[in-house]
Amino acid sequence: MDNRPIGIFDSGIGGLTVMREVMEQLPYENIIYLGDTARIPYGSKSEQTIKKFSHQCATFLKNKDVKTIVVACNTASSNALDMLTREFDIPLIGVIDPGARTASKATKTGRIGVIGTTATINSYAYQKKIMEYLSTAEVIGIPCPLFVPIVEEGWEYSQVAVLTAEKYLTELIEHDVDTLVLGCTHYPILRHTIKKVLGPQVTLVNPAFETAKDLKNLLIEKDILNGNYDKPRYEYYATDAPERFRRIGGNFLKKEIDNLYEITIDNL
Ligand code: DGL
Repeated sequence: MDNRPIGIFDSGIGGLTVMREVMEQLPYENIIYLGDTARIPYGSKSEQTIKKFSHQCATFLKNKDVKTIVVACNTASSNALDMLTREFDIPLIGVIDPGARTASKATKTGRIGVIGTTATINSYAYQKKIMEYLSTAEVIGIPCPLFVPIVEEGWEYSQVAVLTAEKYLTELIEHDVDTLVLGCTHYPILRHTIKKVLGPQVTLVNPAFETAKDLKNLLIEKDILNGNYDKPRYEYYATDAPERFRRIGGNFLKKEIDNLYEITIDNL
């Protein structure tokens, strides 16, 4: 048993969709969340920069004495998880493996789509992982960078969202995919619009849900679940604009955000 908190980080507020799943599946765990709001988006940055920022975020959490780190950001997971796993001596978990594994189980035709930021798609991390689980899979990756600002504007059900989804997803319809990985923290919020465009026959995979399941299994396996069943403590850190984090993040989390602190990047 271990009552130290779980650390979660993301490039901003998007990782709160992962935190929401963790809170639901592990209701007694204390959590420290770090959103690097000063430097979002990571999705348009180079691998080298994503690695550097991710290392700083993980170091911040490690210094808070977390028992494990969840790399909630798909861009950070796809570009930096291997490096972080080598450099930190606590268990780390990312979103790519759980998402890829679930997609490879869900598909019937083997035709799988992956959508994410430009850096996630260009890393081929999802594509490679899916092929490891299902070597016959045909994987089509499409970067959809405009989905992030659309969601942050709260426009997920708007005509703009539908038109943007039609533009990005046409290729997936042409390839007749039967499964789609929502490979970015923001996309589960757009799932109704995505479903409307792709049709009901396409199974949408939300890596956030599967990651929380994997995290639970990891804590059980390592015997580090919190043995204390009191109300857990949630603490949030943002590297910039904490009030925006509170306002928009509250919608992502479907919960009030208290215990929110600003931590400038110089102090990461
Ligand atoms: N959190 C990022 C992801 O899941 C999306 C936002 C960004 O580009 O930083 O890939």
